Amino acid sequence: MARPKIALIGGGQIGGVLAQLCALRELGDVVMFDIVENMPQGKTLDIAEASPVDGFDVSVTGTNDYKDIAGSDVVIVTAGLPRKPGMSRDDLIGVNSKIMTSVAEGIRENAPNAFVIVISNPLDAMVTLCQKVTGFPSERVCGQAGVLDSARFAAFIAWELGVSVKDVTAITLGGHGDTMVPLVRYANVAGIPVMELLEQKYGNAAKAEEVMTAMVERTKNAGGEVVKLLGNGSAFYSPASSAVAMAESFLKDQKRVLPTCALLQGQYGVDNFYVGVHCVIGAGGIEKIIEMKLDAGEQALMDNSVAAVKELVGSMNL
Ligand code: APR
Repeated sequence: MARPKIALIGGGQIGGVLAQLCALRELGDVVMFDIVENMPQGKTLDIAEASPVDGFDVSVTGTNDYKDIAGSDVVIVTAGLPRKPGMSRDDLIGVNSKIMTSVAEGIRENAPNAFVIVISNPLDAMVTLCQKVTGFPSERVCGQAGVLDSARFAAFIAWELGVSVKDVTAITLGGHGDTMVPLVRYANVAGIPVMELLEQKYGNAAKAEEVMTAMVERTKNAGGEVVKLLGNGSAFYSPASSAVAMAESFLKDQKRVLPTCALLQGQYGVDNFYVGVHCVIGAGGIEKIIEMKLDAGEQALMDNSVAAVKELVGSMNL
């Protein structure tokens, strides 16, 4: 049976890590597309030449021609500018909309059956644009944000409590911006609510609350924290890992439940907008959107986040 084919549109920082991760996990043959001549060919040759050392039997190639993505099962899009210190993700909308339009046309014409995962920012707007231009059904166009935002929240919890990251479940919903909604009530370590463990650690509820609030705020600003430290560019290892988890769930029909930017059609009272929610990802793409029961406070935060997404998407005048 032929190996699956994975196209990476954008061969920059995230694109490079994506190519290497897909190869190391032997998820399929990788084709990296970029508009910069020779760069994707050079980067992928470098990765491919490590194959005898790492022992992966997939091909990793680079191209400047969209025709080479023909027959792709998965397309992961990172084309676009990353932010610089002091910029919000939303500041990228003008320049990245133009790039996304051309990218989506390339995908539509050359890989019409692919499952598309968008990473380019501002995420919620770029996924919306990608789906509109490709015209693909919504179960085949989604965005990576929630896996990473949730991973960051989980990492902070694990470090704070001194437990394995493997045992932490943390969920963020909503848009991929300052209004994202880390769900404190659902955060747990091996089934035990994190607030309960924080209260045990600190011996009082007020301190536990204070520590959790700090972790929630750090999660919301985690991308900016990395941008500030790097000084040039934005996070690239963790976004790549997160998108690979989504691609793997699709390619292996794992049916993982992953926070994904998906098109809502009535869920959470939202109609026809892409927002971060829990989804089942399998061979059918976004096979199911899970609507969690939110309390009044959580729903208010979600409404606020959805309002920010609507404003951002509205500014594109699609
Ligand atoms: N088509 C294809 N690739 C393009 C296009 C285009 N029209 N325009 C730019 N690119 C490529 C660039 O040549 C570059 O190689 O996109 C790549 C982006 O790589 P980086 O600048 O290294 O950015 P990266 O850190 O990978 O982030 C990419 O993901 O998380 C988001 O905010 C981030 O929007 C940014 C995107």
